[in-house]
Amino acid sequence: MNLSVLGNFPVNRPRRLRTSPALRRLVAETSLNVNQLVLPLFARSGKKLRRPVAAMPGVFQLSPDEILREATQAQELGVPAVLLFGIPDQKDAKASGAYAKNGIVQQVTRRLKKELPELLVITDVCLCEYMEHGHCGIVQDGKILNDPSLRLLARTAASHAEAGADIVAPSDMMDGRVRAIRAELDNEGFLETPIMSYAAKFASAFYGPFREVAESAPSFGDRRSYQMDAANGNEALREVALDIQEGADLVMVKPALAYLDILRRVKTEFGLPTAAYAVSGEHAMIKAAAANGWIDERAVTLESLLAMRRAGADILITYAAMDVAKWLKPA
Ligand code: PBG
Repeated sequence: MNLSVLGNFPVNRPRRLRTSPALRRLVAETSLNVNQLVLPLFARSGKKLRRPVAAMPGVFQLSPDEILREATQAQELGVPAVLLFGIPDQKDAKASGAYAKNGIVQQVTRRLKKELPELLVITDVCLCEYMEHGHCGIVQDGKILNDPSLRLLARTAASHAEAGADIVAPSDMMDGRVRAIRAELDNEGFLETPIMSYAAKFASAFYGPFREVAESAPSFGDRRSYQMDAANGNEALREVALDIQEGADLVMVKPALAYLDILRRVKTEFGLPTAAYAVSGEHAMIKAAAANGWIDERAVTLESLLAMRRAGADILITYAAMDVAKWLKPA
């Protein structure tokens, strides 16, 4: 920016462009729109099940019929997409529930695509919810194995596509998973199913409440041997570059608010459709402070999402998607 073109005070008065709501609207550089929102949903088997989660007010484990209700409401509010997670009835050492033809995500995906064909169904592709040890890959001798896990991830993604998923979203952070998933999808004839990779996913304490909802906390150790170190920005760009080379169509940065620098760099560097995931801990912080009357929930939520947009996010994955859709409706 050439600062010499700006006159000095009193010629230059930035407040001139802030004098009325209409003028402020006219010069706004960034905006929020319902089209940008994705609502995460947690499915488990059962009927009329709406199991609340202590750490995440407003978020539930939902049975398929309740998922359909929630998704219908989201669609009516104009939210274009949901992101599906599954909690299986049983966990084992090879994550069978993740790629079972009639697994919970596969069932719910079929149902949603049948009842609400317009609503985009994005499926989270990961193994942690389905593994008895809660890690995102196969475990041997206390180690999380990379290459053998790829096969399971690829099968999981293909089974989601087979059930009708519009986009598959791998969140495991194994090396080479996007390539493995692309190959399997192509092989099975799903040439047009896009991959949204959790490309820059950090090992974050902000995922705490999610692990309670998804029942996916690791039973030993942590995820630091596969998710990224919060200290690293350049490495995030390399991770994203690799996923794009391997075939990612959309990329994600996660968490969002504490990683806005990464979002900006990813958007500037690659220009792909870029998603920000406002994760469970971010949601919980806003909810908790609002419940105490310390902050204005609506204003803080909208400001946070706008900051993600300003940082370069095209897509906003947020547990507040339905509230935001209501707030954005013209009065
Ligand atoms: C599964 C997964 C996680 C989240 C999304 N997919 C948890 C984790 O990596 O432990 C976190 C989402 C959130 O906190 O809202 N791998």
